[in-house]
Amino acid sequence: MKRSFSLVDVLLVLAFCGHIAWTVKASSQCKQALSREIRPHSVAITEFGAVGDGVTLNTKAFQNAIFYLNSFSDKGGAKLFVPAGRWLTGSFDLISHLTLWLDKDAVILGSDNPDDWPVVDPLPSYGRGVELPGGRHRSLIYGRNLTDVIITGDNGTIDGQGSVWWNWFKRKTLDYTRPHLVELMNSTGVVISNLTFSNSPFWTIHPVYCSHVIVQNVTILAPLDSPNTDGINPDSSNDVCIEDCYISTGDDLIAIKSGWDEYGISFARPSTNIIIRRLIGHNRNGSGIAIGSEMSGGVSEVYAENLYFFDSSTAITIKTARGRGGYVRNIYILNVTLVGVDTAIRFDSTFSPHPDDFYDPNALPVIERITIKDVIGNNIKVAGLLEGIEGDTFHHVCLLNIALTVTSGSPWNCSYIQGYSAMVSPETCEPLKESIYPNHSSDCYHLSNHLRSSGNQNKGSWLHSW
Ligand SMILES: *[C@@H]1O[C@H](CO)[C@@H](O)[C@H](O)[C@H]1NC(C)=O
Ligand SMILES: *[C@@H]1O[C@H](CO)[C@@H](O)[C@H](O)[C@H]1NC(C)=O
Ligand SMILES: *[C@@H]1O[C@H](CO)[C@@H](O)[C@H](O)[C@H]1NC(C)=O
Ligand SMILES: *[C@@H]1O[C@H](CO)[C@@H](O)[C@H](O)[C@H]1NC(C)=O
Ligand SMILES: *[C@@H]1O[C@H](CO)[C@@H](O)[C@H](O)[C@H]1NC(C)=O
Ligand SMILES: *[C@@H]1O[C@H](CO)[C@@H](O)[C@H](O)[C@H]1NC(C)=O
Ligand SMILES: *[C@@H]1O[C@H](CO)[C@@H](O)[C@H](O)[C@H]1NC(C)=O
Ligand SMILES: *[C@@H]1O[C@H](CO)[C@@H](O)[C@H](O)[C@H]1NC(C)=O
Ligand SMILES: *[C@@H]1O[C@H](CO)[C@@H](O)[C@H](O)[C@H]1NC(C)=O
Repeated sequence: MKRSFSLVDVLLVLAFCGHIAWTVKASSQCKQALSREIRPHSVAITEFGAVGDGVTLNTKAFQNAIFYLNSFSDKGGAKLFVPAGRWLTGSFDLISHLTLWLDKDAVILGSDNPDDWPVVDPLPSYGRGVELPGGRHRSLIYGRNLTDVIITGDNGTIDGQGSVWWNWFKRKTLDYTRPHLVELMNSTGVVISNLTFSNSPFWTIHPVYCSHVIVQNVTILAPLDSPNTDGINPDSSNDVCIEDCYISTGDDLIAIKSGWDEYGISFARPSTNIIIRRLIGHNRNGSGIAIGSEMSGGVSEVYAENLYFFDSSTAITIKTARGRGGYVRNIYILNVTLVGVDTAIRFDSTFSPHPDDFYDPNALPVIERITIKDVIGNNIKVAGLLEGIEGDTFHHVCLLNIALTVTSGSPWNCSYIQGYSAMVSPETCEPLKESIYPNHSSDCYHLSNHLRSSGNQNKGSWLHSW
């Protein structure tokens, strides 16, 4: 019998007495799959002729090892062991029921020859490469249509050596969109843990069309001025749990996405049930947690807590634009500590570009039921720059218990926003001063509405289903 893969143990206590009050107690850990780390079969990459000198190209060794291990996939799977050394390679494909295990001081290095990163089709939910029309370079570590894949070890490193790509990008000499460091597509039961990921050419970890993904206890590093080196981008994926990570990169630390304009709208695969906790991070040209700007398939049921961002550009951002369509709803972010952040909260509705001229400018995103609670911050320039869209007010925005030491003269700047706030200092903007039932003030209306609309007071919540 197949066990049900539940990620977290969330206890939802509902007191139903004329109104709904609730508290959420999330367990401290993403719930692991059954102990699948114990693979009955294991081989070392050296058995396939790999040389860990940082110079020899080992793409064939990785491919051959994985091809060999495929014969164990129906026998409990297998482990590919990467010992200490510097293992240069081009892009290679993972298989189901595989553990890729990097020992202490093992470094997988991305080749600096773009031909070692073959060009693959664009994602259907984007219609084209994110940066350039047409295909895109395949990620260094790639997987498609997989189930039960683990990438882990004893803090080994996967280093994309992205600086060559950043330079090509800046000089505009690339023919195709840059590759991610790790991309898993249409896969389920993915665990990425206990490793360091550095210098990705583009985004670092990209689960797309995936479900049941755990990213735990990883360090992600890239220079603060490296272009678009996002940390973890769950994209059109559900049941994703990210915890205990340290991320310092050139762009967003975590960006939740779901496709681009008309392509994302018609592909219609949302990102939903995303948990993020105990994230520490730092950026200079991005956000700690971002939603969008590609959110056309919808983003909902995001729960993030215990976040610490320092010396950063922005802490929490929702990015969208006319033409995106889709929605962002039921977002709950709490316990955020900020030190030295330019803008604490940002809603940015002016995001371009668009994939092509065929997007529908009348496709307006629905942004609703966004709660941000328990935030303290020191040395903040702007508390909130919250811009909705004319004729498309972002509504049921709720800010609770926020205390920021702000250096600029106008801490909040809101347009086309509607919502509620309590215990916010400095004082919020007028559109957020609407009142709700005091009984709901500890959790804001969006979640109680959500529970009501779910039609099952005992177990209807998305949190409860985890
Ligand atoms: C809110 O609480 C007050 C008493 O504290 C109660 O009279 C009222 O009915 C409650 N409102 C709702 C919507 O439950
Ligand atoms: C996703 O993967 C499953 C096998 O795991 C396959 O049956 C299905 O066709 C794949 N879908 C896409 C869109 O790739
Ligand atoms: C994944 O599944 C899709 C849809 O069935 C198929 O077209 C594609 O070739 C598969 N890719 C791999 C690598 O298995
Ligand atoms: C985190 O990973 C390191 C190795 O990278 C390991 O030593 C440590 O025990 C891990 N911590 C947890 C909580 O898993
Ligand atoms: C893993 O290695 C990275 C990079 O060297 C380091 O910053 C991090 O502290 C290490 N993590 C653990 C748990 O040892
Ligand atoms: C990370 O490493 C620690 C220490 O070795 C281990 O207990 C834990 O299970 C590992 N976590 C994952 C998700 O592999
Ligand atoms: C910072 O981000 C913005 C918007 O994403 C981009 O236009 C700009 O080029 C970035 N700057 C650097 C130095 O990467
Ligand atoms: C809030 O988050 C911080 C980490 O940023 C953590 O140390 C603290 O325990 C959290 N507080 C609660 C009440 O969970
Ligand atoms: C508010 O933000 C808008 C858009 O960024 C800007 O044009 C305007 O000057 C700001 N207003 C204040 C009072 O800062």
